[in-house]
Amino acid sequence: MPHIELLDQITIDKIAAGEVIERPASVVKELVENAIDAGSTAVTVEIEEGGISLIRITDNGCGIAKQDVENAFLRHSTSKIRSAEDLTHLSSLGFRGEALSSISAVARVELITKTREDVFGTKYIIEGGKGRTPEETGAPDGTTFLVRQLFFNTPARRKFLKTPMTEASHISDLLTRLALSHPDISFRFINNGQVKLHTSGNGKMKDVIYHIYGREIANNLIPLEFEKDGVRLSGYLGKPVINRGNRNFENYFVNGRYVRNSILAKAIEDGYKDFTMQHRYPFVAFQIEINPEKIDVNVHPSKMELRFSNQQGIYNLLYEAISKGLHEPELIPEVEMSEIKVPGMSEKKTGKRKLL
Ligand SMILES: Nc1ncnc2c1ncn2[C@@H]1O[C@H](COP(=O)(O)OP(=O)(O)OP(=O)(O)O)[C@@H](O)[C@H]1O
Ligand SMILES: [Mg+2]
Repeated sequence: MPHIELLDQITIDKIAAGEVIERPASVVKELVENAIDAGSTAVTVEIEEGGISLIRITDNGCGIAKQDVENAFLRHSTSKIRSAEDLTHLSSLGFRGEALSSISAVARVELITKTREDVFGTKYIIEGGKGRTPEETGAPDGTTFLVRQLFFNTPARRKFLKTPMTEASHISDLLTRLALSHPDISFRFINNGQVKLHTSGNGKMKDVIYHIYGREIANNLIPLEFEKDGVRLSGYLGKPVINRGNRNFENYFVNGRYVRNSILAKAIEDGYKDFTMQHRYPFVAFQIEINPEKIDVNVHPSKMELRFSNQQGIYNLLYEAISKGLHEPELIPEVEMSEIKVPGMSEKKTGKRKLL
């Protein structure tokens, strides 16, 4: 057995990057979440070749001060938490302090950033974990990341990339969710020079739904507003008529974060059970606002999973909200049956419940 040695930092970062950066869409997720945390009101994502050769993300957020630029790329460096205690009341999407170190370990990264207070911005190049000296540069307020040649130094990971078209569609799906979860931010997505998505940022989720999914879905929505036990739900339930063959249209966000959660998915699907056939899934898009102390988002490096302290409670609440929403009278209109003659009820209308 060879003797035991501590790995060097670049190798440590490359290994750790494997958990966070799986494909181009993971880079986009991390960088857009950083832009959201930075208070941006406009975010542009441009990709070439499915993001494999180039991802450029520009925001108009708070920027990074020159003296912090190099530190931002160190593993476990973050401005968002100060101690483990802060994890219990997180309000930001990021908190692990590892996205930038992971991305820069497996790609060629260029950063241009400027805070409102600074006159000049900073340009920093870091490739495969090796950074150059930051330079002063003219720049608008905010931050631009250029990520080139993802996995140029990790061929094992590069091998698992799909075609540029497939990778681009993962990014597109992700951006639809980010846009839905933050209707107050204007998102622009440009794929190979073509604008694929441009939301207004006017704060109205329904407008984002219309923009992304079109008229048929936007015309078949039931507003969802529900509050109980300190949990607030707001957004839209699709009428059962716009059901789908897969779960891709189940959009739910917890405190602004897009997550996958089996309890939430089950509550949604059980809520729709009486209205949809087997193996059909609803369209939903809504926010769940809950006291951050009642959830744990530190479950997986991707930050896509989440635990609720009271799982049964959240299931019951969501199930109740959805059942109530779907049983609203406008969904089950009275159908005139006057042409059917029922003995003893000649002129009176009888009603029948009909599901749309
Ligand atoms: N677009 C941006 N605008 C302003 N500051 C940024 C931006 N991107 C990154 N930063 C700064 O760099 C730090 C490191 O970013 P990084 O994404 O690595 O960690 P994090 O967001 O704190 O945690 P996580 O690893 O969970 O994403 C952030 O805490 C933030 O201070
Ligand atoms: Mg981050």
